[in-house]
Amino acid sequence: MMLTHDFTYERCLEASVRNAWTVDDCFGGRDFDFGKSFLPDRIAGVNDITCLSDAEKRALNQIRGNSYCHIFAFVEEYIVPMVMDNARSDVYGDETRLRSLLRFAEEETKHQEMMERARKQFAAGFGVDCGLVPGREAVAQAVLATSPLTALLLTSMIEWFTQLHYTEHVRDRAELDALFHDLLRFHWIDESRHARIDSLLIDELASTLTPDERETAIDELLQLGGAVDGLLAQQVELDIDALETTRGYTFTDTERQEIRTHQQRAYRWTFLVSGLEHPKFVSIVEQLSSDGSAKIAATAQALAA
Ligand SMILES: [Fe+2]
Ligand SMILES: [Fe+2]
Repeated sequence: MMLTHDFTYERCLEASVRNAWTVDDCFGGRDFDFGKSFLPDRIAGVNDITCLSDAEKRALNQIRGNSYCHIFAFVEEYIVPMVMDNARSDVYGDETRLRSLLRFAEEETKHQEMMERARKQFAAGFGVDCGLVPGREAVAQAVLATSPLTALLLTSMIEWFTQLHYTEHVRDRAELDALFHDLLRFHWIDESRHARIDSLLIDELASTLTPDERETAIDELLQLGGAVDGLLAQQVELDIDALETTRGYTFTDTERQEIRTHQQRAYRWTFLVSGLEHPKFVSIVEQLSSDGSAKIAATAQALAA
C-alpha cells in the first residue's frame, strides 16, 4: 500500500521549521469584532433559519465560532498522546521521523493553547456565558482505547476537513472577523502538514495489519463518529440556550425545533460529513479496505440527509 505519494518526513519537518508560528503571532494583540460574523454560513448554518432576526443570526454565528474552537481543542486532546506513542515506537530509529512527530505533537498543544485563548477572549467580549460540552479527557480515552489505526484514521479525517474548511470556505471571505479568520488560517498552516504525516503513519501501520484488522478499524471509526454525533447534538442545545440568554426571552417549541434542525445539519456537515466525504480521506479508505469506503459513504449520506 502506498498512500503517501511524494510525502516524506523530511519535507514535513523542513516545512514545519520554515513556517513555524506562535500563538502571539496569530492573535497579534487583537480582539474579536462582535459586529462581524466569525464563520462562513456553510459551517454556521444560520442564514436559512426563518425565526431569527439578522442580529440573532450573527449572535448564533459567533456562538458557533466559540464552539468550533472548543470542539477542535476537544477532538485534538487525544492526538498528542497518539503522536507521542508513534514517536516512541521508533525512538532510536529515523531521527527525521522522530523530530517531525515531536513537532507535530508540540503543534497540537499549541493549537489547544490558541483555541483556549480564543475561548477566553470570546467569553470576555461576548458578555453571555455560552455552555460548552464537557468530557474532553473521557473522549480522548475512548479514542485511544480503539485500535491505533482507528485513532489515526480519525485524525486524518479531522486534518483533511480542517484544511477544506479554510481553503474552500474561509480563505476568500474578507467580511468575516479578521482575528477569527486568522485563527483558522494559522491552524490550516500546520494541519496541511499533519494530514501528510497521518498518511505516512497509516502506511507504516497498515502494512503490519491483516485485511480483517483494517476492516475492524473502519467499523470502530464509524462507531466513534456516532459518539461525536451525540456530542454535537448536546452542543446544539447549549448553543440555543446561549442564544436565548442573549436575546432575553425563550423560543417557542416550534422555533427551537427549527433552529435545532438547521444546526444539527450544519454541525454534522462541519465535523463529520466534510471529513467522511473528503476526496483524500476517501482515497485512503479505498486503499485500506474493500468494504470500508461503501460503509463510510453510506454513513456520510445518512448524516447529510
Ligand atoms: Fe490542530
Ligand atoms: Fe493537526
